[in-house]
Amino acid sequence: MSHVLALKCRECARETPIAAEHVCSFCFGPLEVDYDYDAMRAEATRDAIAAGPESIWRYAALLPELPGPDGRTDPALRVDLGAGWTPLVEAPRLGAALGLDDLWVKNDTLNPSFSFKDRVVSVALSAARRLGFETVACASTGNLANSVAAHAARAGLDAYVFIPADLEPAKVITSAVYGPNLVAVKGNYDDVNRLCAELAGEYGWAFVNVNVRPYYAEGSKTIGFEIAEQLGWRLPDHVVAPMASGSMLVKIDKAFTELGKLGLVAEHPYRISGAQADGCNPITAAFKSGGPVRPVRPDTIAKSLAIGNPADGYYAIDAVHRTGGWMEDVTDDEIVAGMELLARTEGIFTETAGGVTIACLAKAARGGLVERGERTVAVVSGIGLKTLDVLAEGNVPTMTVNPGLDEFQAAMSMREHQ
Ligand SMILES: Cc1ncc(COP(=O)(O)O)c(C=O)c1O
Ligand SMILES: [Zn+2]
Repeated sequence: MSHVLALKCRECARETPIAAEHVCSFCFGPLEVDYDYDAMRAEATRDAIAAGPESIWRYAALLPELPGPDGRTDPALRVDLGAGWTPLVEAPRLGAALGLDDLWVKNDTLNPSFSFKDRVVSVALSAARRLGFETVACASTGNLANSVAAHAARAGLDAYVFIPADLEPAKVITSAVYGPNLVAVKGNYDDVNRLCAELAGEYGWAFVNVNVRPYYAEGSKTIGFEIAEQLGWRLPDHVVAPMASGSMLVKIDKAFTELGKLGLVAEHPYRISGAQADGCNPITAAFKSGGPVRPVRPDTIAKSLAIGNPADGYYAIDAVHRTGGWMEDVTDDEIVAGMELLARTEGIFTETAGGVTIACLAKAARGGLVERGERTVAVVSGIGLKTLDVLAEGNVPTMTVNPGLDEFQAAMSMREHQ
C-alpha cells in the first residue's frame, strides 16, 4: 500500500497531485511528500520493520513508495542495489582522542556505490520508474553521479549524468564504468545544476535532484531510521551531519520526528549539528552570522560538499537552531587531518566529506560544544578511495628496504635512533 497522499508545499501548505514536480505553482516554495500517517502507523511496526530486508527497503512503509501503473506498489518495480543498513559502530578510540565517552560512527562508506547517495537514488529512481520515466539524469558533485549511473544500469534505465569538468579523476572513472551518458560541464557544480534545471524543462527525463527531488530527498530519512533502530529503537542525544545542499541533515531531523509521531521511539530530546568546509560554507556562515544564506564560489578539497547555493540551507539552519545544535566549518588541512584521524583510530577510510564531519566534531569538542557523555553519532557519508589525491603526500611507506633480514634490522635501528 502506498501511504503517499500528495505533494505539499513546505511554505504555503497547498497540495499538488503526485507527479514529477518540485516547486509549488502558487508560491514557488519547495514541494514535499505528504503521507497518511495513520495508515503508516498501522503498517510500520517494529516487528514488521525488523522482518524486512537488510537495506533501506525495510522502511518502505515510511518512504514515498508510489503506486505503479496498475495502482499497486509492486516491490519488483523498486530500483534496488541493497543500499542502506550500514554499520553503526561505537568509536571509543576516536572518542578518547576527542574527549568524548559515547561516540558512534554511522559508516555510510559501505553502500553499493560507496556513499550515502545510494539511499536517495534508490528512492528517486524507484519513483521515476513508477512515474513512467525511461531516462534518468542528475547534476552531481561526484557521488550522486556514481550512484545514478550504478542504479540506472541495474534497472536498465538510460542515464544522463552531468558533472563539473574538474571533478576528481576517481569520481569520473567510478561513474563512467557503469556506462551512462557522462557529460562534463565546464563550470562548477552550481553551473551544472543551473544547466540541469533548464534541461529539465526541455527533456522528458527524471532529474533526480530537480523534478523528482521531493521523492529523492526522502531517502536520507533512512539514515535517521537506521540510527534509531540500531540503538535499540532509541534516539541518540546528538547527530553530526555533513552539509552540501543541507538536505541530509534536514531529513535526519524529519526521520526522528516521524519515529516519535509513529510511536516507534520514545520522545527524547536530541540535537543535530552541521559541518561544512570553510572553502564552501554558505550554511555555516549564515548560521554563525544570523544573516541570510548567501551563495559562495566554492574553493575546497571537499568537492562532494561544494554546493555554493544550497537548496535546503534555511531548513538546515532551522533544524539546528530548533534542536540546540551547532554548525562548524574547517580548513582543507583540518579535513585531511580528520580523514587520517578516523582511519588511524577506528579503521574507517572516508573521503573528504567524512573528514569535514570528523574535523568539525573535533573543533566543536575542543570548543566545549559537545558534552563528554552525550551519545553522539557522526555521519561518515562516503569512502576515501574516491579522494586519494588529497592524501598522496603524507601517506607513504614508513621505510623502504631491500629484501634481507640485515637490511630490515638496520632500517629498524636507524628508526629507533631517529
Ligand atoms: C559524501 C557526501 N556527503 C554528504 C553530502 C551532502 O548532502 P546534502 O546535499 O544532502 O547536504 C554529499 C552530497 O553530495 C556527499 O556526496
Ligand atoms: Zn506554496
